[in-house]
Amino acid sequence: NGEEEEKIDYVYKVVVIGDSAVGKSQILSRFTKNEFCFDSKSTIGVEFQTRTVSINSKLIKAQIWDTAGQERYRAVTSAYYRGALGAMLVYDITKRQTFDHVARWVEELRAHADSSIVIMLIGNKSDLVDQRAVPIEDAIEFAENQGLFFSETSALSGDNVDTAFLKLLDEIY
Ligand code: GTP
Ligand code: MG
Repeated sequence: NGEEEEKIDYVYKVVVIGDSAVGKSQILSRFTKNEFCFDSKSTIGVEFQTRTVSINSKLIKAQIWDTAGQERYRAVTSAYYRGALGAMLVYDITKRQTFDHVARWVEELRAHADSSIVIMLIGNKSDLVDQRAVPIEDAIEFAENQGLFFSETSALSGDNVDTAFLKLLDEIY
């Protein structure tokens, strides 16, 4: 309601990017609604959800944008990145190709987003460790070289999802 809106100190736009089926939409619904859906459909176009959190006794409304990983369903790139202060760049720890594409996503961010954008690299589906195809050391090394924060998460179990978003929002603040 309006009264609640008035107490918001900052609104932060955050974008979620990465290949199709890595779990972008499920990470978002875990963070904003604490929900997970096993048969989620591929995103078409752009959707966004919000969650308000308190950081250093300031109320911060995170407005998190989610788009399709599939090229043909993606919205106009520059509009998607405009005004974004943070980015969650997601790959799937069980699909090596989704990690190999991370460099391309970083290039897209560097081309279209503000140069001060805070980027968090996310290795999702950490619940599927027995199918791991991306060693955690590879991701840590890549993140260090590129100046990104890094975390492995599971949208399914909820592991590290809040922690990763809160870290990103705290770094923006
Ligand atoms: P696009 O919208 O096509 O770009 O895909 P997306 O990145 O939004 O993927 P989505 O969130 O729709 O998830 C794709 C599939 O992975 C779904 O079947 C999810 O149930 C599954 N999934 C997502 N996160 C996890 C996770 O943490 N663990 C496991 N085991 N499965 C997951
Ligand atoms: Mg999606």
